[in-house]
Amino acid sequence: MKILNLYCGIGGNRKLWGNEHQITSVELNPQIADIYKKLFPQDIIIVGDAHQYLLDHYKEFDFIWTSPPCPTHSRMCFSFNNRQRKYPDMRLYEEILFLQYWFKGKYVVENVISYYKPLIEPHKISNHYFWANFLIRECNIIRPKVRNDVGCTFKVKAEKWGFNVNDFKNYKGNKRKLINNCVSHKLGLHILKESEVDHDKINNQTILAKWDNQEAGVKDAQETKEAIQMKEYKTLAGLADIQTELCLTEMSKGSMGVFKDRMYPIIFEIIFKDVVKEWEANENEEIWR
Ligand SMILES: C[S@@+](CC[C@H](N)C(=O)[O-])C[C@H]1O[C@@H](n2cnc3c(N)ncnc32)[C@H](O)[C@@H]1O
Repeated sequence: MKILNLYCGIGGNRKLWGNEHQITSVELNPQIADIYKKLFPQDIIIVGDAHQYLLDHYKEFDFIWTSPPCPTHSRMCFSFNNRQRKYPDMRLYEEILFLQYWFKGKYVVENVISYYKPLIEPHKISNHYFWANFLIRECNIIRPKVRNDVGCTFKVKAEKWGFNVNDFKNYKGNKRKLINNCVSHKLGLHILKESEVDHDKINNQTILAKWDNQEAGVKDAQETKEAIQMKEYKTLAGLADIQTELCLTEMSKGSMGVFKDRMYPIIFEIIFKDVVKEWEANENEEIWR
């Protein structure tokens, strides 16, 4: 998979993605980019503006992760100690809308929990907001609390996060901040894996498992029917794909009882309308017993 990792920092989210993907990462700060390069030498690292890079290159990727700058959205920014007036940085929402309407692959936009009600409903996991075009299932990955008090030295933090302090030795800025900025490695991996899951297929298989269970009661059948009606044509088409073969086998055996009662009204009238018409035209009564 071709992955674009924007505003990559030192690659907290990327750390467990392995080497099987072709990853391009973009970071504005050359010193931070240097550390990233040491940690992930096989990745392509671009030193430049991620916002512009997204606009120019989004079509080249299958999966895009972006973590636009968060300081102007954070609750810290609005705290009593930090009353510096700044407009919220709207690149966050520009990227969400851009990806939602233009990008054909899977994307996730990550940011902090904002001090205001988000303008677009996010998915909240741990202490992040995520906007994505795929389902991210709940997980109980809790990000270690950001602590800067005595004892939480850079060395302690680096070891806790599995970084080698030597990789940071040329960095002139605040090294603890680099680690505080990281998304948890496990959460980064969980989200990448979720983007690869075909949830529609899983749902369909669950629904069909209910059908296959001869013991399924009326309530189950009703729920199944409602679930399917809600999913309408798109899912029905997917469902039919998965089960076409099974249906046809059952039909050819003539054991249409369960399928006729539960599927005929929903699927056959829509998906197999033409096939049914043809059979009815052939007056093949046998098959409907
Ligand atoms: C919150 S950190 C990203 C953390 C990263 N997702 C992780 O999990 O480790 C944001 C990074 O974006 C970089 N940055 C800020 N503005 C940028 C821009 N316009 N283009 C590229 N990178 C930028 C900052 O230097 C910082 O390293």
